[in-house]
Amino acid sequence: MAQRAHWKSKAGFILAAAGSAVGLGNIWKFPYETGENGGGIFVIVYLLCVLLVGLPVMTAEILLGRAAQCSPVGAMRKLAGRRSGWVIFGWLGVASSFLILSYYSVVAGWSLHYTWLAAKGGINGLGTEATKAIYMELFGNPWLNVGWHFVFMAMTMAVVAAGVSRGVERWSIILMPALFIMLGGLLIRAMTLDGFGPAMDFVFGFHAEDFGRRGVLEALGQAFFSLSLGMGAILTYGSYLKKEDDIMSAAVTISALDTVIAIAAAMVLFPIIFSHGMEPAAGPGLVFITIPVAISQLPAGSFLMMIFFALLVVAALTSAISMLEVATSYFVDERSWPRTKATLVAGGAITLVGIPSALSGSVWFFGSSMVSVIGMNWFDALGYLTNNFMLPLGGLGIALFTAWRLNDAIRHDHFLSGTKLGVFYRAWLFLLKFVVPVAIVFVFLDSIGMLRAN
Ligand code: PFF
Repeated sequence: MAQRAHWKSKAGFILAAAGSAVGLGNIWKFPYETGENGGGIFVIVYLLCVLLVGLPVMTAEILLGRAAQCSPVGAMRKLAGRRSGWVIFGWLGVASSFLILSYYSVVAGWSLHYTWLAAKGGINGLGTEATKAIYMELFGNPWLNVGWHFVFMAMTMAVVAAGVSRGVERWSIILMPALFIMLGGLLIRAMTLDGFGPAMDFVFGFHAEDFGRRGVLEALGQAFFSLSLGMGAILTYGSYLKKEDDIMSAAVTISALDTVIAIAAAMVLFPIIFSHGMEPAAGPGLVFITIPVAISQLPAGSFLMMIFFALLVVAALTSAISMLEVATSYFVDERSWPRTKATLVAGGAITLVGIPSALSGSVWFFGSSMVSVIGMNWFDALGYLTNNFMLPLGGLGIALFTAWRLNDAIRHDHFLSGTKLGVFYRAWLFLLKFVVPVAIVFVFLDSIGMLRAN
């Protein structure tokens, strides 16, 4: 057996895991969900979800990975027994990472396209209608979608193939500070805008009237997606940790970084939007339509636009790397394949599975024909399936397994080793045993429509 790869430094692990967490979810989804759910009150509920559900599950995932020194399928086999039913949750993780990356890469490809357009000055100074037309044109163009999807997957595969410390860790150490600098720069710029005051009131003010039960459910789902939980990505990164590392403080740092960046992204987007009298609840088009229109009205707009979309690419890339790592590490750990072969096979398969998503806006079969049968195109259907069913189920499995089934001594020992936060052990276990499962089941039942009054 080849020696298992490990992170070179603790900071490397933290940056890689934060890179997984910080992604399109923070910069694209969090601000528009905040906009649609009344601003400040959504932010508060989101923070509670991170603290009471996200943080305990993240700690559990890192712990399972480090205890097993194996990716999700092998980890479950090792900790639960070869023939145990719990192994299904390992498989579920591999399947989720496969499917999520296949469509995530398409949106990341759009970000590449917009970065390219911004660099050429091609989206600067256009009005709302013209910018919307660019978005619709891109969505409806099969070649552009597939082309950028391929480019993005190739970038992701190049990093993963280089290995855990020489690829994933090294690039996280380069890309994450770049992301902090770009976001910090945009934030400073946003603070000087007229819309900053009203935007802060919107993001931090308490406007309960715009908030409903849907907001709670969206906040919990978003906390899961944003922290990369429920599909074994954080578990896999945890498996490259050594025994001495402190799990709890790592989980706190990663969750805090992810949350700060989501809020910072909202603090960048809303001032820009408010300064131009635009609509905050613009939905998914916020980043690709509203933002280009608003940014291009600023001085040096095309430069700022390029920085903004490059930021989106970087955030997406470090997340995609973690998803590809789940599938790759399965082949490396369980089949003993060399890493390059494992990356090419896993990445190649994901690229192919992503093609229908890339064609959802242009090819009848994956678009309108599916819409007429199930009400969604392929791209939306995959998002719906993974976010509403596979991730909550995966998270539930991890929480239940760690809290109720994992050997007591292993759990206790791994939680305590290297940490000063041992006093939180009981609180963590309580959250994991009761609060997390109840919250997840609640979201799950709602997403299949069983809790809806209308
Ligand atoms: N956390 C990422 C984001 O917020 O965009 C998405 C993600 C990455 C989800 C990795 C799940 C995952 F395993």
